[in-house]
Formats: sequence, structure tokens, C-alpha cells
Amino acid sequence: MTRYRDLHAASLEDREAFWLDAARAVDWFEPPTRAFDPEQGAYGRWFPDGVVNACHNALDRHVAAGLGDRTALIYDSPVTGSKRSYSYAALRDEVSAFAAVLQDFGVAKGDRVVIYMPMIPEAVVGMYACARLGAIHSVVFGGFAANELAKRIDDARPKVVLAASCGVEPSRKVAYKPLLDQAIDSSSHKPEAVILLQRPELAAEMTPGRDHDWAALRAAADGRTTDCAPVAATDPLYILYTSGTTGTPKGVVRDTGGYLTALAWSMTAVYGVKPGEAFFCASDIGWVVGHSYIVYAPLLIGATTVLYEGKPVGTPDAGAFWRVIADYGVVTLFTAPTALRAIRKEDPEGREAANYDLSSLRALFLAGERADPPSIEWAAKLLGVPVIDNCWQTETGWPIVANPIGIERLPVKLGSPTVPMPGYDVRVLSDEGHEAGPGELGNIVIRLPLPPGCLPTLWNADERFRESYLSGFPGYYQTSDAGYMDEDGYVFFMARTDDIINVAGHRLSTGGMEEVIASHPDVAECAVVGVADKLKGQSPTGFVVLKSGVERPTAEIEREIVQLVRDRIGPVAAFKLALTVKRLPKTRSGKILRGTIQKIADGESWTMPATIEDPAALDEIGEAIAARR
Ligand code: COA
Ligand code: AMP
Repeated sequence: MTRYRDLHAASLEDREAFWLDAARAVDWFEPPTRAFDPEQGAYGRWFPDGVVNACHNALDRHVAAGLGDRTALIYDSPVTGSKRSYSYAALRDEVSAFAAVLQDFGVAKGDRVVIYMPMIPEAVVGMYACARLGAIHSVVFGGFAANELAKRIDDARPKVVLAASCGVEPSRKVAYKPLLDQAIDSSSHKPEAVILLQRPELAAEMTPGRDHDWAALRAAADGRTTDCAPVAATDPLYILYTSGTTGTPKGVVRDTGGYLTALAWSMTAVYGVKPGEAFFCASDIGWVVGHSYIVYAPLLIGATTVLYEGKPVGTPDAGAFWRVIADYGVVTLFTAPTALRAIRKEDPEGREAANYDLSSLRALFLAGERADPPSIEWAAKLLGVPVIDNCWQTETGWPIVANPIGIERLPVKLGSPTVPMPGYDVRVLSDEGHEAGPGELGNIVIRLPLPPGCLPTLWNADERFRESYLSGFPGYYQTSDAGYMDEDGYVFFMARTDDIINVAGHRLSTGGMEEVIASHPDVAECAVVGVADKLKGQSPTGFVVLKSGVERPTAEIEREIVQLVRDRIGPVAAFKLALTVKRLPKTRSGKILRGTIQKIADGESWTMPATIEDPAALDEIGEAIAARR
């Protein structure tokens, strides 16, 4: 462990030297003379005098270096039956021309552009076109409902929205345009224009005066070029909204120079990928994993990224990922444990893998939720490569804890994503702020400053940033994860300490769902908990108390509540079960005992809380669950 330990210690002891050295992987317009300025921002800012451009680093610099013919992006879409690949030069030209289109709409440095698009190359072109101009993109995941999109439009206040007419799910086509129209109708901020990509699978009607046809604009811009705008390293590259503890999402701000530095470092040191190799990150561009390791990091180092529009199973079968690996000589696959569980459920013996040549694969990385040891062991046996857990958050942008195989492959301890990455001074603190000993459970925190790449603040919400992350333990960033560190410094993430749950690798707020359910006219109060689910990790379940005097059949109301969550938050919430109870178990001070409800729902052993107001309420929860099993 010496190489890792030395490196980690160096990153904390001499952060200037460590990160200025790492920053040499980035092509700066003006190289930074200092790594960190502790006086700026909430906890300091990285590369305060560096000037840079993300698109230049991902595309133009490689073309200028004579690598224009190398494959940058492979689009593979089993749901539409299409495949397409772009060389670095071709992608640069696409982005450069589309940036000219954006310029025609007045998009300039600092303007926001919301992107509501599925996993198609045009979405990546849109993101890079923004980066090229110094505009700030904000991608919204397609599985969210209009109401969630509206919240993001109101917060980001985009000049332009880029959208596609539809997404394609295995079971249905998702018409994006009606959702977008509904969102813009209900938002107070109105974007000046929508640039709409008509997909052949489901075209949409254009709204005259507001909507513009992507293909026509792009065709008219053929041959036009734009320059990469120099931006300050501290300027935002994007805003990515993530679940907070209320229905109002948090706009995580990502700066430019620190992010590029951290991504370039991690691509080789953590993921062990070299220029020219193919990297397959099976996430979605609507999530942070997709931003970092589908869109930006592979291209920063001159590797090839695979943009896969499909699922791990059912498109068409459980061999889909193995087919992609074989077709493109993928060296590293990065996915969520839930995807492995889905594959294993369909193909427990792993027979599909035998149909493909997987000899190119060197490692499988897992993130997004706790990697369950049975899935790790199953995949390691099947694929014969190291299966490596890594843990991070939308807020951090790259792994907090990982196994840096590009530096030194450390022994795996099942249940732990291994050790803190450079710049992350991870500690475990008791609720009172005392440092926990090895093996002692506590709050996982990061001693400030956070390393480059992590959020400097929340969009237009500096105070919320301080309150949410910095105020709980002064001098530390609070991850809101509970866990422990062992005597070798391995970190174990056990559970969230807030109301966030993880459903199929998707981060959701139970508080947000409760807000929606409470808006149903028949509901007096409710509690949503994440119940253990074999496939998705957790699955949200709502317990509902109806207003007195409501006489309608409870089954009907429960169906309406399920539909309400789907309509207001989106299908991605996967909220399928609402159960009516007479009362919710509470403490004498009125706090709903969500932790105990969850234990009962999970069938775990639980003890009667000493402060409970009415013990019979807990029996009722058990009965409601038993009645549905
Ligand atoms: N646009 C529109 N709808 C979407 C969507 C998108 N981009 N993604 C998911 N949905 C819908 C699904 O169609 C489904 O709708 P339904 O209720 O009508 O069936 C619903 O949202 C729930 O989707 P999901 O939770 O993904 O469940 P699933 O049963 O469709 O698939 C898995 C299960 C495990 C195969 C899938 O969740 C998966 O691949 N997960 C990996 C997630 C991941 O990579 N996360 C990133 C972290 S690294
Ligand atoms: P997100 O912001 O969607 O990436 O979700 C971040 C949260 O997901 C973390 O705070 C953890 O609770 C959880 N998480 C992500 N990766 C892991 C992992 N490898 N092990 C355990 N929990 C994880």
C-alpha cells in the first residue's frame, strides 16, 4: 500500500505541489500559478488564476495533436437499432457548428442552457457546444416528470432549451415534448427558444415562434466554426440538479479547471484507462456518472467513449453489455450494482457471456449505491477481472473512495469501496463531532477543503450550500452518509443519514415524495421509506393516513397516490406502493418513527422506541405490510 499511501499523504501535505502537477494534464490557455486560494468562496477555490476551456481539452487539442481520425464517441442504441461513431475531428466539427447555432440564439458565456434529451450523440454535442462557448449546461434526466423539469428551468433560468422529441424505453416511447410544454407552461421563467431534435421514432409538433428544428438549423450551419471561449478555471461548466431533503432540488455547480484536473487524474489513476482505449460507462448523461465518465473524462485523455442507449437486460437480452464490450474492444466497464443484479437475475449462470469475446476487458467498476458482495463475487467469477467498487456523490463529481488500480491495485475488502482518493481527507465523526475509532460507526465527513472537481457551491444558493454541507460539522463537508473506517483506512459506507434513498442507482428524496403525497386532497399525513428491494436496492413505500370523513375505497385512493407521484416526480421514482394506515407511529414529541417503520418493512428485528406515543401504531404498520405480501 506504500505507493498509494505516499500519494494520498502528499496530496494533503502539499496540496499546491500535488494539484499543480496534476493540472499539467490539462491544456490551459493560461496555466494556473497557484493551486488553491483559501480566501475565495465558501471554503476556497481551485486554480484561481487559470484560464481554460473544457471543449478545447476534450476535442480540439486532440485534433491539433494529429489524432483527429481516432474514434471519440461510439453511439450504440439497441432500442432504436442504430449505431454510429464519431472521430475526434468529426465530433469537433459537429460541436463547433452547433455552437454557432447557439450563438445565433444569443447564447454566450455564463448563459444557461437546459438539455432535456436521452442518450443520443446530439445531447453530447449540445453539452460540448455549451462548454465551447463558456455557457453553462444543465442536463435533466428523461425519467423526471414535467413538474421536476419546471423546477430546474425556474432555478437555472436558461436562455435556450435543447430537447429531443422522445426517449425510447424498452416498453414504450416517452414523448418528451408534451412534458417540456407542460414544464414551460408552469414555470415562471420562459426560455427564449427551444431547439428540438425530431427523432424518427416519435416526432413532435413544434410550437410556433418558440420551437426551432435542430436538423434544419444544423444543416444551415454546415461548415461554420466557433472558437473555444477562454473561461476562468473557477467559472461553472455545468449545473446538475440532485435530490435534496425537500422537493426543491439542489443545483450542484461544477467549476471548470478543478473538474478537468480531477477527471484527467482519475481516468488514468483510478480507472487505469489509456489514450486510444475504449471505455464503456453504462450510466446516463442525466446523472453525474454520465457527465463525468461518459461525456468528459474519456475524451479528456484521448480515449473512446461508448454512449449506450439501452438497458442491461431486455435490449434484447442479458448479454447486452457483453456484446458492447466485444464489439468495441472495451477495456473498462463502469456500471451500477443494480444493473449487475438485473443481469444476474435473468442469466444466473452467466451463459450469455460465453457468446462474446471479452478478452479486452481489464476491470469492472461499480458505483452509485452500495456494491453488494454477492454481485461483486458473481461478476468477478464470470468475467475473470477485478470488480472494483467506488463511492462518490453528485456533489463531488469523481470518486471520494476508490481502489486506484492505475497507481497500485489494493486488496479488495468486500463491502468497502477501498480508500480515500487524493485530496479527500475522509474522517468519521460522532454526532458530537468526536473522531471515531477504527470500526466505530459515525458520520462520514471530509475535512475542508474539498479537492478539485467537487462543488464550490449550489446554484444561486450559497447559504443553502453552507447549511446543507458545512454547518453540521464546522471545518468539514458532511456527506450525509454514515459508516466507518477500519484499521487499514478502508472506508465502509453503510447508510444515508438523511431522507435520501437509492432506487436502481437513482438518488431520490423520500421527503420530496411525501410533499407530493401530502398534496392529495384525501391525505392527512404520510411517511415514505425505502424498503429493501432485491433488484433495485431500495424501493419507496408510502404509508398514508386519510383525513377523517373520507369514505372512498382506500384502494382507489392508493392508486391515485401512486399515479400522483409518477405524474409529479416521474417514473424514475418507481413509487408503486401506498398503504393506508389509521395512524403513523410517532414519538411523544410528534416525530414520525421512519427508521422503525423501515425496519418493520424490511422484516428486520427492531426494538420498541422508548419515546413512542402509541405502540399499537407500529403493529398496524406490520399488518398493512403483511396484508400486501
Ligand atoms: N426516460 C424516461 N423514462 C425512464 C428513463 C428515461 N431515461 N429511465 C427510466 N425510465 C422509466 C422506466 O421506463 C420505468 O418506467 P415504468 O415504471 O413505466 O416501467 C421507470 O422509469 C423506472 O425505471 P428503472 O428504475 O430504471 O427500472 P427498470 O425496471 O426500467 O430497469 C434496471 C431496472 C436495473 C435495469 C435499470 O434501473 C438500470 O439499468 N439501472 C442502472 C442505473 C444506473 O446506471 N444509474 C446510474 C448510476 S451509476
Ligand atoms: P449520487 O449523488 O446520486 O451519486 O448519490 C450519492 C450517494 O449514493 C452517496 O452519498 C451514497 O449514499 C450512495 N453511493 C454512491 N456510490 C456508493 C458506493 N459505491 N457505496 C455505497 N454507497 C454509494
